[in-house]
Amino acid sequence: MVGSRIAWCCVSMGMLLLMGASQFVSGLGVNWGTMSVNPMPPGYVVKMLQANGIKKVKLFDADHDVVKSMAGTDIEVMVAAPNDLLFKLATLKGAADAWVKQNVTRFNFKGGVNIRWVAVGNEPFLTAYEGQYLNTTLPALKNVVDALAKAGHANTVRAIIPFNADILDGAPLPSATRFKAEYLDQILPMLQIFNSTNSPFSVNLYPFISKYQNPSFPLDYAFFGGTTSPLIDGSNTYTNALDASVDALIAALGAAGYPNMPVVLGEIGWPTDGNEYATRELAGTYNQQLINHLQSNKGTPMRPNTFTEFYMFGWLDENIKSILPGAFERHWGMFFYDGVAKYELNLAGGTDAPAQTLKNAEYPPYMSAQYCVLNTYADRTNLSENVAFACSRADCTPLFPGSSCAGLSLEQNASYSFNAYFQFQNQDPAACNFQGLASITTVDPSAGNCRFIIGLVKSKPSTSRSDAGSAFRPKNYNNGIIVAISALFLSNLFCFS
Ligand SMILES: *[C@@H]1O[C@H](CO)[C@@H](O)[C@H](O)[C@H]1NC(C)=O
Ligand SMILES: *[C@@H]1O[C@H](CO)[C@@H](O)[C@H](O)[C@H]1NC(C)=O
Ligand SMILES: *[C@@H]1O[C@H](CO)[C@@H](O)[C@H](O)[C@H]1NC(C)=O
Ligand SMILES: *[C@@H]1O[C@H](CO)[C@@H](O)[C@H](O)[C@H]1NC(C)=O
Ligand SMILES: *[C@@H]1O[C@H](CO)[C@@H](O)[C@H](O)[C@H]1NC(C)=O
Repeated sequence: MVGSRIAWCCVSMGMLLLMGASQFVSGLGVNWGTMSVNPMPPGYVVKMLQANGIKKVKLFDADHDVVKSMAGTDIEVMVAAPNDLLFKLATLKGAADAWVKQNVTRFNFKGGVNIRWVAVGNEPFLTAYEGQYLNTTLPALKNVVDALAKAGHANTVRAIIPFNADILDGAPLPSATRFKAEYLDQILPMLQIFNSTNSPFSVNLYPFISKYQNPSFPLDYAFFGGTTSPLIDGSNTYTNALDASVDALIAALGAAGYPNMPVVLGEIGWPTDGNEYATRELAGTYNQQLINHLQSNKGTPMRPNTFTEFYMFGWLDENIKSILPGAFERHWGMFFYDGVAKYELNLAGGTDAPAQTLKNAEYPPYMSAQYCVLNTYADRTNLSENVAFACSRADCTPLFPGSSCAGLSLEQNASYSFNAYFQFQNQDPAACNFQGLASITTVDPSAGNCRFIIGLVKSKPSTSRSDAGSAFRPKNYNNGIIVAISALFLSNLFCFS
């Protein structure tokens, strides 16, 4: 644990040394979100993480059942203080000390949890929040850093802020990118804190959103193969959106006086449903290319040969996340909600790395193998109202246009909705009636790519979950730099075609 200060120096000074050594050092971590009805119990998730060799996990809060489940493992954990705690941490004397005591120190003993990071807020400067966390994020960070030092964690636990690319000004070229002027008063002192505590700058990047918001965004540029129309920035040539976005941040850090500050990717990935570009095939390809790219430690044009720590978003699907940004929002998992892998993926990356593919959860704790479906001969007068009712309370995003169940017949469609509701209601027989329209069956109605779900058993009352039914980690994905680059691309495409 004491080695982590050294680790950062090594990693930023040159991975070549480490690459020369035979030991493979992976920068890969995963985001573990729990916004699901009856989420996979923590013990099962930890077994999956271990079976897949995952050594770094990023959480969105500090749910004690989740944190405790990693005790005694070698997994490095990032706990988080969600945005709705920032005001308290910033203004209430002793709040940060209490938070650190309860959510870090408590787990920090031999055989305890290897907590290495505290995330202060989550994308607190998102445009969608209209500045609501602008004044409290910096003081909350200061107080958490002080509290960590007071509690003796200064050398082992670092505080970061997972930012969204919204904080950048969206200049057309990476080298010209700066932090948005209106955030400088907050960001400059944050950089000073990160610098003095050896902490990296953390950002979440989403090339998928560029494609989603702008269908003309070249897919090969999102996918690490944009050789047909690379982005030229002085002597640097960019063939993928990720390198361009990272270098845009590096340029902004440089202009702010911290050209060498390490960068961590807090969230990165590709969803599998809810949009025509969100397919299992594209997501599997994207994630494999992303992993090959980052695990090769080749770095970016501005920072070649650099080890990058990155957290895949996400591990499991979360079926009650807000779909305000789009129906894809519930389908970011590398695994479905029940721990079934969605595609083949070699987490070590590269072609000569030992072939390794995702390992499913072992014996997920399913409820009974039964489904709720439409009765063939029922009077259908009220069918649409009942479908609408079911879908207002369950996850029907796979039925949306471009999604995995979009090709179902009207009857199958109704069955999908009824079953989703029935499972969300813990298979309560009363939840499979719909005015006599539906009944329970043991025959799996799944068709093609469309998976009818069987819910997992409820492992604890959902009211005790810190995130249940509340904040939903909304995003608006106003992803400044990537959108700007995509706009530039469009103008290039128009110029040259
Ligand atoms: C510790 O974290 C939990 C879960 O995120 C949160 O509910 C609790 O308020 C935190 N403790 C303190 C003292 O802030
Ligand atoms: C933040 O602080 C500034 C200056 O004190 C103040 O004008 C502004 O209203 C505050 N904003 C919020 C959201 O509290
Ligand atoms: C902090 O910033 C100074 C000035 O840019 C730099 O010399 C130093 O290496 C930085 N420290 C770290 C740990 O990045
Ligand atoms: C349709 O719904 C109305 C209002 O709830 C109800 O009175 C009627 O009996 C229903 N019709 C059928 C066929 O279920
Ligand atoms: C299936 O259900 C969804 C959600 O209610 C709806 O948007 C869609 O139009 C339906 N499709 C058909 C073929 O009925």
